[in-house]
Amino acid sequence: MKNLYCIVGARPNFMKIAPIMRELKGCSEEITPVLVHTGQHYDKSMNDTFFTQLEIPKPDIHLNVGSGSHAVQTAEIMKGFESVLINNKVDAILVVGDVNSTIACSLVAAKLGVRIVHVEAGLRSNDRTMPEEINRILTDQLSDLLFITEKEAKVNLVREGIDANKVHFVGNVMIDTLYHNLEKTAQIKEIMSHNNIDAKGDAGYGIITLHRPSNVDNPVVLGGLMSTLCDISKKIPLIFPVHPRTAQKIKTSELQEIISTGNIICTAPLAYLDLLGLMRNATLVLTDSGGIQEETTALGIPCITLRENTERPITITNGTNTLAGVDRQKILAAAEDVLINGGKVGRIPELWDGHAATRIVNILRSWL
Ligand code: UD1
Repeated sequence: MKNLYCIVGARPNFMKIAPIMRELKGCSEEITPVLVHTGQHYDKSMNDTFFTQLEIPKPDIHLNVGSGSHAVQTAEIMKGFESVLINNKVDAILVVGDVNSTIACSLVAAKLGVRIVHVEAGLRSNDRTMPEEINRILTDQLSDLLFITEKEAKVNLVREGIDANKVHFVGNVMIDTLYHNLEKTAQIKEIMSHNNIDAKGDAGYGIITLHRPSNVDNPVVLGGLMSTLCDISKKIPLIFPVHPRTAQKIKTSELQEIISTGNIICTAPLAYLDLLGLMRNATLVLTDSGGIQEETTALGIPCITLRENTERPITITNGTNTLAGVDRQKILAAAEDVLINGGKVGRIPELWDGHAATRIVNILRSWL
């Protein structure tokens, strides 16, 4: 019997761990999964609703670290996780994605000689100003088994000196979760009324999500983006579930005033099924998220990414994603293309078929 410690910390981790935990249940005579939550995200809307809706088991261990600067948050996770590894028999840890919890736990495991499995390895934006890029590069260097969502990721890993034999192309666990839950979403009307979203009219609606430090921490950049988005919202109402980081920044009267000039409907962060239900029927999505670029590609919904680069190039080459950065003219042109011509028509990337977690667990059984 092998003990596999599975780590989660922040919202985008929850969709990735859910299918893996479900699949691990099927081989409980070989692998005992232990779920560790670092506590990086803790609000009900960022955490609890995801555990309930995605049927993730209650964490076995909770480190309760909460928020802090990158160094403080990473250090607190490392301190907490080190005693977990020292006081238990741990055969390997499994980390997902690229958040601070991912690198913090990987560093601890590597120093204690515990093997590391990284799910969603090898993605590169080639932009080291992005905190997640640092987390991705370092986690991959420390990992013993690397699962990738697109083939290009292997090229990135091999270029960085990682042994190709450690890398397995398995598909995308986030898309496993999407397919698993698609039929559970409520009707649009119900989702809107439940969340007090008033986006009536025949024009359809779009969705905005924004939380990347490079977009929201500087009031000039955020003000520029909001003013461009307001212009788009005059043609189509835009629903904006506001991340806590962004909510703190748009408290200023200047930003409130910009937002009030358009038809942008701000809400608290939405539950997984509500956002999925809204996304699958949206006319367009404007985002700086990583996961949403992939989810819109799987759903065939046009996505305009408000970033200069993406670590998920397959959403551009195969999918419905268009990179627009923060340039007003580029964003308006991309939105215009969607509203007039329907936007990019994509296709589903290879192995994004809802069975990535099955492949992962099959490999884990022999590897462990
Ligand atoms: C983190 C991830 C990012 C991911 C995002 C999804 C890193 C480096 N970044 O960014 O990759 O896309 O999660 O949300 O790990 N806060 C709350 N309640 C919470 C959580 C956070 O109010 O439950 C507030 C705190 O003021 C905190 C801020 O949001 O300081 C940012 O949280 P943090 O976890 O540091 O990073 P995110 O921006 O959420």
